[in-house]
This record gives sequence, C-alpha cells and structure tokens, in this order.
Amino acid sequence: MGIGAIGSALAAALYKNKNIELKYYNRSPRDFIKIKIAGAEYIYPIDCQTNIAAGQQLDWLIICLKEYHFENAKEWLGKLIGASTKVAVIRNGLRLKEPVLEFCEEKNIVECMVDCPVQPVGDGFYEQYKMPKITIPKSGISAPFLQLFDKKYISVNIVADFKTAAWEKLCGSAALGAILCLSGETCWIFNDKKIREIYKNILTEAVEVAIADGAIIPGNFIGKMLARLKEYPPEKGSSMLTDRRNGRPVELGAKNGAISRLGALYGIKTPLNDLACSLLQYTNKDGLGRQKK
Ligand SMILES: NC(=O)c1ccc[n+]([C@@H]2O[C@H](COP(=O)([O-])OP(=O)(O)OC[C@H]3O[C@@H](n4cnc5c(N)ncnc54)[C@H](OP(=O)(O)O)[C@@H]3O)[C@@H](O)[C@H]2O)c1
Repeated sequence: MGIGAIGSALAAALYKNKNIELKYYNRSPRDFIKIKIAGAEYIYPIDCQTNIAAGQQLDWLIICLKEYHFENAKEWLGKLIGASTKVAVIRNGLRLKEPVLEFCEEKNIVECMVDCPVQPVGDGFYEQYKMPKITIPKSGISAPFLQLFDKKYISVNIVADFKTAAWEKLCGSAALGAILCLSGETCWIFNDKKIREIYKNILTEAVEVAIADGAIIPGNFIGKMLARLKEYPPEKGSSMLTDRRNGRPVELGAKNGAISRLGALYGIKTPLNDLACSLLQYTNKDGLGRQKK
C-alpha cells in the first residue's frame, strides 16, 4: 500500500518472488512499477486498486506511506487488515505502530526502518540508488517477514534494540535535514563552523529526548556525527531538502516534529527543533493555508 518511491522499490524486489501473490493499493492510479536500478530500466505491469472493498484477507500488508498520509489512509487500513493479517510499516520516524494499533494486535505489526535512496526521475520512473536495506526489531514475526524477500534484492537486518537504532537515525537526519531544508543548501554548508555548531545544538536536544525515551545513545554519538559531517560530499542533500525543493510537504512529524512532541511529553526543552517546525510548517500548506497532500 503506497506505490511511491519506497513502495516501487519494494514492489520491484517482491515482484521477483514467484511464491507470493502481490496486490497493489495506491491513492492515485498506477499501471506499472517503473524503476531504474544501476542504469537498467525495469517496467512491471500491475493491477493497482484505488477503490477497495472490505475483507481482502491479506496475509501481509506492507505500508509504504509518508507519516502525514496515515490520517487519510485509515479507512483503507480498516478494510485491508483482517484478524490474521501481519502488517509491516515502512517509514521514517518513531512509534511506527501507533496509527495501525486500532486495526490489529501489536504482535502482528513490524516496524521497519528503510535505508534506500529512491527519487522520482520523470516519466513515471523512480531511480533507486542503493539496494534497499530494512532494519526491523527482533519479534515473533521477524522471521516470516524475512522470508518474503530474496536477499539478492533486499537486505533485512534484525536488531535487538530497534528503539536506539530508530532514534540514532532520527537524531542525525532531523538535525541535518532542518539545516539543509531551512538554508536551501547542500552539505557544503557545514564548512562553516557556525553551521556545525547549530547542527551540534539541534542534535544535542534530540539526543536528550532520545535518552528520556529509553534509547541507549553512546556518549561519543555526537562527536561521531560531527566527524561524519566532514565525510559527506558537498553536494549531498537530504529528503527534507528534496521535498522542499520539489514543493512537496516536508515530513516534519517524522523528523523535528517527533523530537518536539516527545520533548514536550518528557518535559525537555527543544527550542531549536521547535523553531524548525514553526518555520517549516508552511511548506506543508498551499497558498490558501490548506494542507498539501
Ligand atoms: N524516498 C526515499 O528515498 C526514502 C528513503 C528512506 C526512507 N523513506 C521513507 O519512506 C516513507 C515513504 O516515502 P516515499 O518516498 O516512498 O513517499 P512517496 O514517494 O510520497 O510515496 C507515498 C505513496 O503513498 C501513496 N498514498 C498517499 N496517501 C495514500 C492513501 N491515503 N492511500 C493509499 N495510498 C496513499 C501516494 O500516492 P499518490 O500517487 O497519490 O501520491 C504515493 O504513491 C517515508 O516515511 C519516507 O521518509 C523514503
């Protein structure tokens, strides 16, 4: 469900598994999965449903939506998730199970962190720049999830402490993303010592909230992230910057918004993350103040 960038990359990989029957669901019509990988083009015809009836009895529902898509997707979730359906939620952010909990038991949900840069490149194609790597927590359904994929096309990594892994990713991507998205520049900007200081301060707020939430962030994490900045190519961007440049909503609720929200919950002040949210919230509205889709 959700045949955008990540949904297309996953569908292309799953398409090769002849032992499973795939069904496709997307808000807008899609006739093909069209993806470019390492210079080669792959086009797979699909029968994608944009209107769905209840009671589909899926074994697995793999959700590839953005954080802000879930609210409008609830009606479909109710129709697609049955008593024995297992659900994989693949998206950025934290607490990925939350929007699905009203439709199924927690033990049937697997949270997935995905590392796989994929971008729309025109003519309905997405370009996938790396093999998808999915990180999931160890649970009763991690083994059946693993069996869906051929490791030639997707690597699935099972970790004991998913919360820490998700927080570490979020801390880095929210600090980097806020700076690039607000400045409109790529990573060359970190040549400036003042910008590196701002990065460090946004990151420090995030780490405080992460620790309060139970993540086990090592003491050298911030130093390591600062050292990593020096290794980034000057032209490296971020998903937040790309969304802003393309006029798409920025996934704030899965980035700085998640840090601000949980900071408020634990009584930790997060002024820099709050500032990023205040300034970027209008990128998610159109000229009449309506929420962009
Ligand atoms: N792209 C990347 O490189 C990347 C990398 C790592 C992580 N991620 C994360 O992966 C998640 C998915 O991102 P993405 O880049 O794949 O997003 P995307 O390209 O915007 O794809 C989202 C898809 O969901 C569909 N959709 C939206 N609302 C829906 C609804 N109510 N019912 C059914 N379908 C609906 C959209 O349909 P329409 O065709 O109508 O728009 C679109 O095809 C995000 O959390 C993102 O941060 C992305």
